[in-house]
Amino acid sequence: MSVIAIVSQKGGSGKTTLALHLATCAAYAKQQTCVIDTDPQATAAAWGDWRGDFLPAVVTSPPARLARTIENAQKQGVDLLVIDTPPHAEAAMREAIKAADLVLIPTRPRAFDLHALEGIADLVSYTGTPAHVVFNGVPARASKMLEEAKKAVAELGLETCPVTFGKRADFHRSSSKGEVASEVDADGKAAGEVKALWKWVKKALP
Ligand SMILES: Nc1ncnc2c1ncn2[C@@H]1O[C@H](COP(=O)(O)OP(=O)(O)O)[C@@H](O)[C@H]1O
Ligand SMILES: [Mg+2]
Repeated sequence: MSVIAIVSQKGGSGKTTLALHLATCAAYAKQQTCVIDTDPQATAAAWGDWRGDFLPAVVTSPPARLARTIENAQKQGVDLLVIDTPPHAEAAMREAIKAADLVLIPTRPRAFDLHALEGIADLVSYTGTPAHVVFNGVPARASKMLEEAKKAVAELGLETCPVTFGKRADFHRSSSKGEVASEVDADGKAAGEVKALWKWVKKALP
C-alpha cells in the first residue's frame, strides 16, 4: 500500500482538490483507493457524499486515530491511500507526514503562501519523506512569477513538482458536484493537468 499525504498550512491552497483528483485517477486505474479526510471541516467527505456510490471511497478520521485508520485500510487491501489534512493544524500535518511515502504540498505561487512553507520544510527534512510543492491556481501568463516561486521553494530545501495546475473553473465546478475535472470536461486543460500529475505521481511513489 502506498500513502500520499497532502499538506499545507494555508486554507484554500488546493489540498482537497488535489487529494480528490489523484484518488479518482487511481480509482479509474482500478487501484483500490481510499481518501482519509482528517479535516474537521470534512470537505472531502462531503464530496464523497455528493458522489454517492462512485469511487473513490472517502472516510473521515481525526488525526489521533490516523494510524489505526491506516492499519484498517491496509488490512482491507487498499492499494493507495490519500490523506487530506486541515490547514493550521500542526499535529494533523505531522501525523500525515509520518505515515506517508510521498508528501505533496499544494501552494499558490504568491509570496505569503510561500512563506507558510517554512514549517513544512522543517518537518519533512526531519522525517526524510520525499516532498514536492505542487503549484496550484497558477494564473495564465505567470511564467516569471512561477520561476521566482520555484526559486523560493528550492531555497527552503524543497522540491517542486514539474506539473502545475492553472486557475481553472473545471476544478471548482466539478468538486462542488461530487465530480472531478475530467468528468465535467474530459478534454479540458484541468483534466490534462490532472492526468499529467497522476503520471508523475506514479513514478514518484516508492
Ligand atoms: N486550480 C484551481 N483553479 C480553480 N479553483 C481551484 C483550484 N484549486 C482549488 N480551487 C478551488 O479553490 C477552493 C479551495 O480549494 P481546496 O482544494 O478546498 O483547498 P484546501 O483544501 O487547501 O482548503 C475550492 O473552491 C476549489 O474548488
Ligand atoms: Mg481542504
